[in-house]
Amino acid sequence: MKIEEYLKSLPENIVSGEDVQLPEKSFREIFNFLNLGEDDIFYHLGCGDGKGIELALREYNVKKAVGIDSNADKIKQAKKSLSQNNLSAELICEDIQNSNISDATVILFWFTNQEIINNMMTKFEKLQPDTKIITIWGPLPDCLPQKVEFPYIINQIPFKKANSLQEQVLAVFGVKCIDFVTAWEFAERYTKAISSKIENDRFLTIIQTLVIWINARNLGVSCGEKIPESIKTYINIMKTHFNIDFEHLLK
Ligand SMILES: C[S@@+](CC[C@H](N)C(=O)[O-])C[C@H]1O[C@@H](n2cnc3c(N)ncnc32)[C@H](O)[C@@H]1O
Repeated sequence: MKIEEYLKSLPENIVSGEDVQLPEKSFREIFNFLNLGEDDIFYHLGCGDGKGIELALREYNVKKAVGIDSNADKIKQAKKSLSQNNLSAELICEDIQNSNISDATVILFWFTNQEIINNMMTKFEKLQPDTKIITIWGPLPDCLPQKVEFPYIINQIPFKKANSLQEQVLAVFGVKCIDFVTAWEFAERYTKAISSKIENDRFLTIIQTLVIWINARNLGVSCGEKIPESIKTYINIMKTHFNIDFEHLLK
């Protein structure tokens, strides 16, 4: 089975990130990296159960916190949890594509849906200079990140445009080319950052590593011409033991 077919067989709400809730330790890593503080107006787009908003207020004393989510149940849960903790925030149930975010100084934006990202880019570009938009795993389209602590990426207004996809990839990974070790290290960092505890994390890391390395090769930013032995070995393991095929992705 091709890797794409395997991914399609997994629950849609998990693969899309719809029901993935960041653990508290990830929020703290993100907020420390942002140097979030009392002068900030913090927006969490797709705020889910409001944990991020709660922490931003309680531990980072932000001036104002706004959580937006299109799921009414999640906003209801967030409101309940904040009032139980005597915290006050704006919690809005709406599509972020219709939201007014113009007073933000810091925005947490973790979306993979291309249409949403493209629509939000128009809004982001109009924000006040120095506003930070933190994304997870990848920078905003065509932009060079301001700062990276992978998988967390700070994009800052005004956006600096990348001259090529290669330039963007290399800015994110901080290396001249991507070898097996870099692909593995970054795959592991991502898995660890977004999960509190995953049973099968080695399996996930192998899939992520192969995807990172193969994409890098197809973009012309992998190191050297030859396919590393370790990549060949993992492609074989996935094929033999799990019936998951990666070979067709190699161009
Ligand atoms: C981490 S976000 C991202 C999920 C999204 N499917 C993606 O493109 O990757 C998940 C949260 O965003 C919320 N959400 C998804 N689409 C939204 C939208 N257009 N506007 C506001 N909230 C949204 C979901 O209810 C969920 O709580």
